[in-house]
This record gives sequence, C-alpha cells and structure tokens, in this order.
Amino acid sequence: MTITVAHWDRVFAAGEGRRVTPAELRFLAQHVRPEPGQRAMDVGCGLGAYAAELTGLGYRTLAVDWAEASVAAVRDRYAGLLPGLTARHLDFEDDQTVVNTVPAGEFALVTMRLVFAFMSDRTAAAQRVRRLLAPDGAWVVTTPLAEQLAAERAHIGLTRADLGALVEGWSSGCWCDLESGGLRCFVLRP
Ligand SMILES: C[S@@+](CC[C@H](N)C(=O)[O-])C[C@H]1O[C@@H](n2cnc3c(N)ncnc32)[C@H](O)[C@@H]1O
Repeated sequence: MTITVAHWDRVFAAGEGRRVTPAELRFLAQHVRPEPGQRAMDVGCGLGAYAAELTGLGYRTLAVDWAEASVAAVRDRYAGLLPGLTARHLDFEDDQTVVNTVPAGEFALVTMRLVFAFMSDRTAAAQRVRRLLAPDGAWVVTTPLAEQLAAERAHIGLTRADLGALVEGWSSGCWCDLESGGLRCFVLRP
C-alpha cells in the first residue's frame, strides 16, 4: 500500500502522533551516548517529539520530513530548542536531494521511528543511512511488527522477512521489544 505525503500532511495538521514512551527513551539512552557536538538526524520526524528527545540527550539534531505540515509543526513546537534542533523539508527517498543537501559521514545517529515501513525502496534507504553515518555511528529503527497488527494495518509494520533484510550487513546490532503489542527498536552499527 502506498501512503502519500498528502496523507501525512492531513495527519499532522490534525496534530496526531504516537507518544514517545519512557521505555523507548531508556533503551535509546542505554545504547547511544552523544559526545559534545555530535549530530543526529531524525528521518520522518512527524511532530518532532522524538527529535526533541534526541536534542535533550545532547545531539545537534536535524529533523526531516517530506510533509510540510510536519516541518511547520516541529518549527513551531520546538522553537525554544534552536539551534540544537532544526527542522527541514526532505524526501528521504529523493536520492539526489539527500546527496546534494545532507553531508555524508557526519551523523553519529540516524533515527527512523515508525517510518522505515513506509519507504518504498528500503534497500536504497538503508544504503543512504550508511552514507550519512559517521564510522562509529548508529542507526535506530523503531517499528511495529506486521505479524502482530490487524491485517488492515499490517502495512505500517515490518514482516519477519523485512526484519531479516533490515539487519543484514550491519556489523553489530541489538534490539528490544518496547511494547508487548509489538513495537521493536533496533540499534544497528556499520
Ligand atoms: C507514522 S509517522 C511517524 C512520525 C514520527 N517519527 C513519530 O514517531 O511520531 C511517519 C512519518 O514518516 C514521514 N515520511 C514518510 N515517508 C517519508 C519520506 N520519503 N521522507 C521523509 N519523511 C517521510 C511521514 O511524513 C511521517 O511524518
């Protein structure tokens, strides 16, 4: 199923979004420890709550989303976090724009919370993340599990086969189930 940018613009104009839980923040803080000046990029930032948490951990955070309503909401809600948190319009699947506008090898952390399942070419998206990560960087993917969702919502999650493809080729990684309903968080390193 293809979900268009117009869908997300409607969702964020309505101010909807899934709350960031203490469990996921604990897991994140255990596995990523920013050093001064390190950069993070939150891809598909939605209303920006997760990006704001990354900023709170100490990252200089770039929050990107292809939905204009999302970028506007993040700028509005988190104006007080400037310059630690900046928001930009970006279609992460537009390879040329990512290459031309986002510096390679600069990010200690790239996060995708409830986003990766929506990428139409996940292999290409993962390669793009690799290019953006610093050598010791981490990619954090938080995703519902398709097999634990009702059939009509399965497209918002990753299947077992998708998860196998996700972790392939990363030199180290770990994961944790954040909710019994099937929200899994992966930390992958190149
Ligand atoms: C389910 S929402 C999750 C939002 C936020 N990460 C959160 O945890 O609340 C999925 C987000 O991914 C964004 N998105 C989907 N495809 C994208 C793409 N190709 N480039 C950038 N953002 C994208 C949507 O606009 C939306 O904000």
